[in-house]
Amino acid sequence: MAENSLKRIIPLADQRPTALAVPAAALAPSSRIHPSGLLSDTRQRPLRDLRISVTDRCNFRCSYCMPKEVFHKDYPYLPHAALLSFEEITRLTQQFVAHGVQKIRLTGGEPLLRRNLEILIQQLAALRTPDGRPLDLTLTTNGALLERKAQALKDAGLRRLTISLDSLSDTVFRAMNDVDFPVQEVLAGIAAAQRVGFSAIKINMVVKRGVNDDQIVAMARHFRGSGLVLRFIEYMDVGSSNGWRMDDVLPSSELIARLQAEMPLLRLPSNSPGETAQRWGYATADGRHDPQAGEIGVISSVTQAFCGDCNRARLSTEGQLYLCLFAQQGHDLRSLLRGGASDADLASAIGHIWGARDDHYSELRSALRAADAPARARPEMSYIGG
Ligand code: GTP
Ligand code: 5AD
Ligand code: SF4
Ligand code: SF4
Repeated sequence: MAENSLKRIIPLADQRPTALAVPAAALAPSSRIHPSGLLSDTRQRPLRDLRISVTDRCNFRCSYCMPKEVFHKDYPYLPHAALLSFEEITRLTQQFVAHGVQKIRLTGGEPLLRRNLEILIQQLAALRTPDGRPLDLTLTTNGALLERKAQALKDAGLRRLTISLDSLSDTVFRAMNDVDFPVQEVLAGIAAAQRVGFSAIKINMVVKRGVNDDQIVAMARHFRGSGLVLRFIEYMDVGSSNGWRMDDVLPSSELIARLQAEMPLLRLPSNSPGETAQRWGYATADGRHDPQAGEIGVISSVTQAFCGDCNRARLSTEGQLYLCLFAQQGHDLRSLLRGGASDADLASAIGHIWGARDDHYSELRSALRAADAPARARPEMSYIGG
């Protein structure tokens, strides 16, 4: 089951490209953009979701994300001084919220590796939307440190939690994380999260054909009726190092067909505009949704792009604003922050950058690949935030 990924690893040419400077117009008094909550990009997509990477490091080496051959012990991770401080993150987040952001996801790398993360969570939990509501504050973790940290995260004000888990088989799991980490410890982390009172827990499973697709049914059975929402994610060509091939993708349509053969499912309506996952509920014998059994999700960014209403921005570990998971460059907000910009300057910069956004990579992927366009060097997911 261990994967022979060595042959397909593409060396990292340019992991962290130079950031784009914030447009001068953003700071000119005559063309300032003041936050109104009505910001939209060139495709009329609002800004609602901000994903913040708090570290580019991880204690796992999943081959689809941080393959060992690239992320080895001499890999040039960012020095501490390059990272945004908690105060800088909170100050920027305030401006994003003024523009309409309602959901914040802390990611990495592995966010629980960032020291004193609870302090950042406390600061973000204190923020309010312009109409006085708390933010939907959540975090994605690989679960390795969760058993130890679940209580502190809850106490700090984290509202939801997503845990990555690619297999229940210890052998498959150890091979996929590539650091021989036992699955039992992640399961203990999930149990701890439930114990301390997290109610909205999601489990994310990246599916790679021939690697863990034989685990789909076992995962569905395990989490059916648990109150946790399991989501199956199509393996994506994100970053420049994972040697992605279409043959490794299990299309969600095939995944649903395999599950349907074991347990009946029916489509559920989406919860909110721009949602990544398509929802499926477990069905009763008479074909209705069984809320006790719960639901699963499929995230099909390869076979059914969802760029049309993508409302997600990404803030990299060192304070660059990325407008798409597949963007080749970010916009340098850190220089503004550290150059003495006012809150109004920061808000105007965000407004100008989002207003000019046209990104829709997943919709173009198949056309680009059909045209045999050369693979573009793109920053890694561990750096810009999943
Ligand atoms: P919820 O609010 O809990 O539903 O979270 P979410 O689905 O918005 O975020 P999450 O980080 O759980 O996303 C799950 C996976 O979907 C990620 O790990 C990515 O693989 C993929 N994904 C998330 N956002 C995007 C996106 O904007 N574009 C693409 N192509 N994939 C995305
Ligand atoms: N394809 C799809 N999802 C990925 N992730 C990381 N790399 C990939 C990839 N190549 C996502 C997974 C993981 C989270 C941290 O990032 O959802 O759980
Ligand atoms: Fe780490 Fe998550 Fe990437 Fe795996 S997918 S290497 S756990 S950041
Ligand atoms: Fe959004 Fe880019 Fe993902 Fe499309 S590919 S959904 S635009 S992040």
